[in-house]
Amino acid sequence: MGDSVACADILKFKVLAKCSRSRARVAELRIPHAVLQTPIFMPVGTKGTMKGLTPKQLERCGCRMMLSNSYHLAETPGMEVLQKAGDLHNFMKWNNGLLTDSGGFQMVSLAKLTKLDEDGVEFQSPYTGAKMTVTPEYSMQVQNTIGADIMMQLDDVVKTTGEDDRMKDAMYRTIRWLDRCIAAHKRTDHQILFPIVQGGLNFEYRTICAEEMVKRNMQGYAIGGLSGGEPKDQFWPIVKHTAHLLPYNKPRYLMGVGFTLDLIVSVALGCDMFDCVFPTRTARFGIALVPTGQLNLKHSKFKNDFRKIDDECDCQTCQNHTRSYIHHFVTQHAVFASLITIHNVTHHMKLMAKVRESILKDRFPEFVDGYINSQVKRSS
Ligand code: GUN
Ligand code: ZN
Repeated sequence: MGDSVACADILKFKVLAKCSRSRARVAELRIPHAVLQTPIFMPVGTKGTMKGLTPKQLERCGCRMMLSNSYHLAETPGMEVLQKAGDLHNFMKWNNGLLTDSGGFQMVSLAKLTKLDEDGVEFQSPYTGAKMTVTPEYSMQVQNTIGADIMMQLDDVVKTTGEDDRMKDAMYRTIRWLDRCIAAHKRTDHQILFPIVQGGLNFEYRTICAEEMVKRNMQGYAIGGLSGGEPKDQFWPIVKHTAHLLPYNKPRYLMGVGFTLDLIVSVALGCDMFDCVFPTRTARFGIALVPTGQLNLKHSKFKNDFRKIDDECDCQTCQNHTRSYIHHFVTQHAVFASLITIHNVTHHMKLMAKVRESILKDRFPEFVDGYINSQVKRSS
């Protein structure tokens, strides 16, 4: 393996600035459909559509890179349609960054896992009841058809509360599946494959996994198996430990993390890319993200509140609507959930822009202080 290059060098990552008091950094990330600055947050549009937003609206929120799920896309619209459309970029008319997840995570999240062995995993669709077997080769085939800039390996994901032996097996299996993914990836000139470091909350397993994956000389690395729901005194040390094992000059992607505080802490620990359903899913529950925390716009206290969601926000929603207006219709019409989604996605885009700006000025710790102070000030 040594220094063999697993993919053509179509990803460029250049550190532009680093924080002098933490591991935070700003980098330029070049991928086939985008030139971006990291740290970046990628909203999740599971099936190639952000629930409630058109790709144009998403772009207007400042988003230049989103995540989709290959497992869901294989179901709807399906491979045949995507092939006819050319690829997902073309199908969605999204000329920006796109990353697809492999389907591995669905093992612990949504679909019912019906079988898992060395060959792959079998799920039962929660929508249709249909069974689908996903092997590393099939996941690569699907993701090659979708055509995202970055694809994720198929991994064996175990809940962090799982048994230690199962965790160890899953970690080693993930390494073996990575090698099968590397062998099955057919579009190395167009798409980048990221491995996913597994190993749960066990430092030793994380070390073994990261070291094996680094030997494969990939173009970027993900940290998986965590989602911010773990106790912070276990979650943050594992992120710190794992990020430290990954090469300095390549992007580090922490999967499934999107609470504001976790983003800030993980940036300080050296992570560059993030995704989470949090801002979009909370929006559908009527909750808006603001510097002081969250506003549940369904609450009756917003009945006569004619302010914007956030004074300082200039998103399409805040430019045009009040808390009161959204409050009155949020439980009745889907478009009001869309209005909050626009605000929440913009909130996360702005948050990351402020994080980057503070790192570029070497004032990241001061930014963190300011964030914590704003949380303490919960006025509204
Ligand atoms: N999304 C959040 N965590 C994970 C993970 O561990 N693996 C994959 N494939 N997707 C994720
Ligand atoms: Zn707004």
